[in-house]
Amino acid sequence: MSYYLQAFPAMAHEWPRGGSTRFYDFKVQTLRVTKLCNTKEIVTINKMFPGPVVYAEEDDRIIVKVTNETPYNATIHWHGVRQKLSCWSDGPSYITQCPIQAGQTFTYEFTMVKQKGTFFWHAHVSWLRATVYGAIVVYPKAGVPYPFKHPYEEHIVILGEYWLKDVLQLEQQVLASGGAAPPADAFTINGHAGPNYNCSKNGVYKINVVPGKTYMLRLINAALNMENFFTIAYHKLTIVEADAEYTKSFTTDRVMLVPGQTMNVLVTADRPIGKYSMAMGPYMSAQNVSFQNISAIAYFEYEGASPNSLSLPANLPSFNDNLAVKTVMDGLRSLNPVNVPKEIDTCLFVTVGLNVNKCLSKTPQQNCQGTNTGTFAASMNNISFVKPTVSILETYYKKIDGHFTEDFPGAPLKFYDFVNGAPNNAPNDTQAINGTRTKVIEFGSRVQIIFQDTNTVTTENHPIHLHGYSFYVVGYGTGNFNPQTANFNLIDPPYMNTIGVPVGGWAVIRFVADNPGVWFMHCHLDIHQSWGLGAVLIVENGKGELETLPHPPADLPRC
Ligand code: C2O
Repeated sequence: MSYYLQAFPAMAHEWPRGGSTRFYDFKVQTLRVTKLCNTKEIVTINKMFPGPVVYAEEDDRIIVKVTNETPYNATIHWHGVRQKLSCWSDGPSYITQCPIQAGQTFTYEFTMVKQKGTFFWHAHVSWLRATVYGAIVVYPKAGVPYPFKHPYEEHIVILGEYWLKDVLQLEQQVLASGGAAPPADAFTINGHAGPNYNCSKNGVYKINVVPGKTYMLRLINAALNMENFFTIAYHKLTIVEADAEYTKSFTTDRVMLVPGQTMNVLVTADRPIGKYSMAMGPYMSAQNVSFQNISAIAYFEYEGASPNSLSLPANLPSFNDNLAVKTVMDGLRSLNPVNVPKEIDTCLFVTVGLNVNKCLSKTPQQNCQGTNTGTFAASMNNISFVKPTVSILETYYKKIDGHFTEDFPGAPLKFYDFVNGAPNNAPNDTQAINGTRTKVIEFGSRVQIIFQDTNTVTTENHPIHLHGYSFYVVGYGTGNFNPQTANFNLIDPPYMNTIGVPVGGWAVIRFVADNPGVWFMHCHLDIHQSWGLGAVLIVENGKGELETLPHPPADLPRC
């Protein structure tokens, strides 16, 4: 991996920037790995798993040349990077670009405009991100301290899920079956499953700590289809940042991260010398879904502990501990009072949930394994998103008709008791409508979106991620959203890019649509994304020079 710095003068027509340009070379390559007594090829960047860390400072320019040396389609998404005026570099396949095909290259370029903290990058095509992911660490500008006592050391801790099967084939098989996705074969911490799994006693991830010192863990949930708890035996975690924005300090025994979330926590080595477990386990809020229940373990090991000492076990919440999740959410507050839009120009009400469609196959045993011999789907406002075979951004920009429509509904076609009265006579009243539908939003609009979970098939906590923006999470709760009783925090809500909408509940977000482009909004559980749980927001250009999307880069991949 080449990595070097270069001073770059600010140029007109681009966002003003302070610092340096960071260049990275990403080669998409296969790697043979042995895990759980099983050897297989996985797709990686630069044969690293997890992949290389991208380091930068606030306001730096990041340039990553991605060369695809595998036979598979690839793209990289820079999760949480707001991509100010650089939608072309966002990365979701068929939304902002065609995939980088075998042998091809694409160079992503973007600026960390007023952004710092823990982010991550991941592949954004099929289920490739199961192994193609890594951290992005963006430091404050030189001389700017953290708003908390500087930790003695920082460590990146990436939670993941590992499959023994080829994940690209697995996605195809699951979709062809019409049924549910099988659970992962293992949870992993920085790529390692740990001692609870077969053949995984060696190479357990470990942080060596000095008694009395404070460590900052940059937690990233890169899991594919699961939300996860994380805890360290006998140690407190103090949350200081969520989704790359500072928060008020909040101390807790455990955290829950949905896929797509990042969180910085401080932990002080203030316990008797020993070897303590760090554990990752499942948070499964849905009914009747099978899931991996063995926790991944890493070690938090004190200097002076005997290497062979037994590790002290961590105490994870039970898999359906909704209260533990709410406690963490309640603790997330922006560090300082923030400027939340008080008036709203565009208000969307978006249901999120599952569907069962009628079986259209002549071989239902093979292809219709969903409820009542139907096929599972998922939707927003009952529209199941179908990815086009071209890039929506490109066709929008070049005004090529016929690949998407602009009629994503701003509210459900039918209002009903979403949580307690959801249609469940599958597949007769549980069908979704397919479409590649977008919602066009005027530049500068102050947007509110109410996400409402539905109980068709099952209620579930859905991690909804919006590309191109961070948003204020102004409220959330259980049951049906009710404007009369909903309590909003307009003072210090957290500023996030992925929100776990509470199981059988709702969440409300607000943001100003000041970044033109085509932005994917979807559930970050990949199985739900594959089933269509997504929609696209198109934010139009504004009038000024810094309000207009530039031309596409010359090397933009073709479909
Ligand atoms: Cu991290 Cu569209 O996702």
